[in-house]
Amino acid sequence: MSFLFADLFAGIGGFRIALESLNGKCIFSSEWDKYAQLTYAANFDDIPHGDITQIHPSKIPDIDILTAGFPCQPFSSIGKREGFEHPTQGTLFYNVVKILKEKKPKAFILENVEGLVTHDGGKTLSIILETLSISVNGQYLFLCQPEIRYHVFWSILDAKDYGVPQVRKRIFIVGISEDISTDIPDFRFPIPHLSKEFIGSYVEENVSGYSISKHLQSSYLFKIDDGRPELIDRESRIQVKTLCSTYHKIQRLTGTFVKGGETGIRLLSENECKAIMGYPQSFIIPVSRTQMYRQFGNSVAVPVVHEVARNLINCLAKYKVVKENPIKKSDLINV
Ligand SMILES: C[S@@+](CC[C@H](N)C(=O)[O-])C[C@H]1O[C@@H](n2cnc3c(N)ncnc32)[C@H](O)[C@@H]1O
Repeated sequence: MSFLFADLFAGIGGFRIALESLNGKCIFSSEWDKYAQLTYAANFDDIPHGDITQIHPSKIPDIDILTAGFPCQPFSSIGKREGFEHPTQGTLFYNVVKILKEKKPKAFILENVEGLVTHDGGKTLSIILETLSISVNGQYLFLCQPEIRYHVFWSILDAKDYGVPQVRKRIFIVGISEDISTDIPDFRFPIPHLSKEFIGSYVEENVSGYSISKHLQSSYLFKIDDGRPELIDRESRIQVKTLCSTYHKIQRLTGTFVKGGETGIRLLSENECKAIMGYPQSFIIPVSRTQMYRQFGNSVAVPVVHEVARNLINCLAKYKVVKENPIKKSDLINV
């Protein structure tokens, strides 16, 4: 089955890798960060459009599925938890809503940090669900007047349950349009795998250039017991802690570091980052080390997205709404 999709807040294309592997064709992408655009272009031969708030939804081509890992900073437990009050970033959700209203895709997949669930005592998630949904997780919402009418399913999924050696809990919000089915569709989130991947199998040997200086180790990393950096090696039978976008600054005393390198302790290497995010080793990183950590730390673990999208496609296929879709050059826009 093939389908067309738009990749919003595209970052370095984690959603794109997952959906392309399911025979999806990306016909629109948006990402305003110039370094992320560089990485995206190097891997997909496609430069994403910029600021989504400056693109009128009518300019976006017709799509079957919309994906959006909308910015999580306002909702994250690391960010200031400003949510919708954030002057611009919090309202980006409403840009997604505008696009859904105009383009009416058959389905969408949204992704955000786990902290969205508890943000503002649960009000933020309630507003999101009430805006999008006629049903939530198999229950109709009778008193709601949603702006757009989707059957919505949400769940917190942990990437470690779907084949990567990293704990990474994210909320996934999947919507299936009422135009596809007035009854609640039979969508299920993927079941956690029984067997887990351990980081030890992915730790590289003889890696140079990622070392943490002895000074930094003693003055900061292990200074006092105000944090618990995790040290791993090839024997480690664990999943590493969540890679965050500030990993390289070693601000997170709760981060994961590797035994080895010139000084005895080093940062995760590029290949190790790819492995814990489920990216192919062939993925090209044309940017600096700092940008590389930032980009992977902001991204999605590809295998879990793949499984969510696979279940969605299988569900849509039952309604025979994802089909061969010839793409005309005129479908592709210049904005
Ligand atoms: C949480 S990250 C999503 C990462 C992506 N899912 C991936 O796989 O790499 C959110 C992204 O939205 C981008 N972004 C934020 N505001 C934007 C805007 N107004 N227009 C376009 N992109 C924006 C950020 O630069 C960031 O890369």
